[in-house]
Amino acid sequence: MCCGRRAARPGSSVEAHSEYEAAAGESNTRVNGPSNMEPIENAVHLCVDMQMIFAKGGIWETPWMERVLPNIQAIVARYPERTIFTRFIPPVSPEEAQGRWRRYFRRWKVATRGDLGGTQLDIVPELARFAPPATVVEKPTYSAFHQSQLSDLLCRKKIGTVVLSGAETDVCVLSTAMDAVDLGLRVVVVEDAVCSSSDAGHDALMTMYRMRYKEQIDLIKTEALPEVWQAAKAGWNDFSRSGVRGATQRSAPMSDKDLNELFLDTLKDIYYAEKQILKALPKMAKAASSDEVQAAFEKHHEETETHLERLERVFEMLGKPARGKKCEAIEGIIEEGKEIMDDYADTPALDAGLLAAAQAVEHYEISRYGTLKAWAEKLNLTDAIELLDQTLAEEKKTDEILTKIAQTAVNYEAAA
Ligand SMILES: [Fe+2]
Ligand SMILES: [Fe+2]
Repeated sequence: MCCGRRAARPGSSVEAHSEYEAAAGESNTRVNGPSNMEPIENAVHLCVDMQMIFAKGGIWETPWMERVLPNIQAIVARYPERTIFTRFIPPVSPEEAQGRWRRYFRRWKVATRGDLGGTQLDIVPELARFAPPATVVEKPTYSAFHQSQLSDLLCRKKIGTVVLSGAETDVCVLSTAMDAVDLGLRVVVVEDAVCSSSDAGHDALMTMYRMRYKEQIDLIKTEALPEVWQAAKAGWNDFSRSGVRGATQRSAPMSDKDLNELFLDTLKDIYYAEKQILKALPKMAKAASSDEVQAAFEKHHEETETHLERLERVFEMLGKPARGKKCEAIEGIIEEGKEIMDDYADTPALDAGLLAAAQAVEHYEISRYGTLKAWAEKLNLTDAIELLDQTLAEEKKTDEILTKIAQTAVNYEAAA
């Protein structure tokens, strides 16, 4: 992130100082080219915080971002399924942050989610279009490994190398590189695909990597990457299937790419459904004869507004615009509700019919949210899991309330 500075590592000595100067002098020879570099295998491209907040016009504008973006785009386009984008997600308010971060976000309150507007936290559109199949991991602090799903994901995929790009060289990229080193990963920093708002910071880091981390951190240029990282043209899919290739499997296991697409598609389905439900509920409330049924529908109308907001947040997390996709199933269920309103108007059976229609809607939603939550878990979309779970719990609660009303007064009256 901009304007944060990682403290210099202690322990510099006269000897280290002269080593530093020597390394600075030989800097160009340490940019490994294909000829002298160990091949990159079992790797992911980890693209750090290429978000609108750091882009031109963002509150933490990093001027170099524009210059390195074509290089990052080239890497992502070559390895879309092997790319993980990190998104820095600040707290809603300074008070929500931990320890010293509270002070940081008091200084940068403008960057808290409570103050930030619009699309500042979105991944820049030039890159967002690759997710899926690229994966998105959210993180609350500098390092992509801190309080995120990243290390679990890399462990599960048996990844041994991270190829780093993004912003900023001397803050989040640095912090991520150091944590990756500590985790025993090989780190390859793409020198012309990382950027900083501080030229001095960027240049110093390049020198430091060459000088102090020769065994753990390699530097490479974008142009040289394909030659050294050939095997990774395969995505997760091929990678995860390689162990079973040739085995007597009737169908290949579903890849994260397929699941990502299915997740997004189903998200669009339920988004469309919720919008239809939002329109239908006031009509059902108006038609209901019992105050209790009317109140239940009105309350759920309010909840449905929140459900839509949560879905919009999930779309945002995926770096995708919130868009619905026509869902015939919910249209059919709502249509049935309309028929009941017409056919049983002014009869004692009306409310029982309306409750049954509303419960059919709830069951559809419970099924969709349950599925989405399970898929979000599989895709490690931690924040999405929480949001989907909140809505799922509310849908279940509503279903219970409707059952209770139906079992007590309404069905009894209908039968009378
Ligand atoms: Fe809902
Ligand atoms: Fe609902």
